[in-house]
Amino acid sequence: MSEQAVPNILEARHLSRHYSVSRGFLRGHATVKALNQVSFSLQPGKTLAVVGESGCGKSTLARQLTLIEEPSSGELLIDGINIASASREQLKALRPRVQMVFQNPYASLNPRKQVGVMLTEPLQLNTGMTAAEREAAARSMMQRVGLRPEHYHRYPHMFSGGQRQRIAVARAMMLKPEVVVADEPTSALDVSIQAQILNLFMDLQQELNTAYVFISHNLAVVEHIADDVMVMYFGSTVESGPKDVIFSRPLHPYTRALMSATPAIHKHDRQAKIKLVGELPSPLNPPTGCAFNTRCPHATEQCRSTVPELRPLEGRLIACHRIEEIHA
Ligand SMILES: Nc1ncnc2c1ncn2[C@@H]1O[C@H](COP(=O)(O)OP(=O)(O)OP(=O)(O)O)[C@@H](O)[C@H]1O
Ligand SMILES: [Mg+2]
Repeated sequence: MSEQAVPNILEARHLSRHYSVSRGFLRGHATVKALNQVSFSLQPGKTLAVVGESGCGKSTLARQLTLIEEPSSGELLIDGINIASASREQLKALRPRVQMVFQNPYASLNPRKQVGVMLTEPLQLNTGMTAAEREAAARSMMQRVGLRPEHYHRYPHMFSGGQRQRIAVARAMMLKPEVVVADEPTSALDVSIQAQILNLFMDLQQELNTAYVFISHNLAVVEHIADDVMVMYFGSTVESGPKDVIFSRPLHPYTRALMSATPAIHKHDRQAKIKLVGELPSPLNPPTGCAFNTRCPHATEQCRSTVPELRPLEGRLIACHRIEEIHA
């Protein structure tokens, strides 16, 4: 019996985003390649975790996926519809289907709006529901995310960080989006609260079959929540595949270095520890060849001159010239 292919709810094909930045007085402009040729596909109800150090392009990717920005090149498909060739009506209908939850619930909620207003607004803008129906839907969502009825008329400053993030999650879910892009949604919260918010994400996914692009630099969180993992370095994917494959046998030196740096994860990695030395290169002065070559213990002349292609190996995609030699 052949397995029926499940259509992708979100698909990125070679997405790139470049920014023009000023180098300062009289020195002209330079291009920062924040995102380079990133591809993935996501099926309904699944979670793709995006990991990598600060500055590797995770939030830039999030802004392309939620249509906050337009990519410099590449294609984005939502439910099979290519954004670039979508009509205005199609775009209007597609936008609400991908929602975002931001890192900082202190900055992402309007301080002048009561919870009830924040939750009913998306319904007012996007549906023909009556005021009574909108309030009922908002109250039902509040209950789902663990907020109490009396919170309906309160303002954001009256809540703790964890409660604020519950409000942000509720707001993102009001239109029953098929995709939620969550950009480090727990990293601004106390450790004791992080697990609650993660569990909330997982419960809502079970209930509503929402797909997540879950951005995190915390590999313990990623191991908990992901179906697939994409490891990014300096704007590019260096390794991606099913979580179990990546976590049981990380191959890319960068992935292995990230895992070595996470004690709770390291037990899975029976290979030698790799220490991540040095800083990310400057985006204004990118290295030639493999972007990781300046920090990689295995780098050779080829790595310094030629960009490695992302290619299939042992159940995942990986971009490394020397991977077979390293793991021989
Ligand atoms: N609007 C912009 N203009 C110029 N450069 C930008 C802009 N946005 C991002 N960048 C640059 O693009 C690169 C990627 O930034 P991005 O914020 O996507 O990284 P990140 O992985 O989200 O980092 P963090 O973990 O710190 O949130 C960085 O070098 C950043 O300085
Ligand atoms: Mg970011």
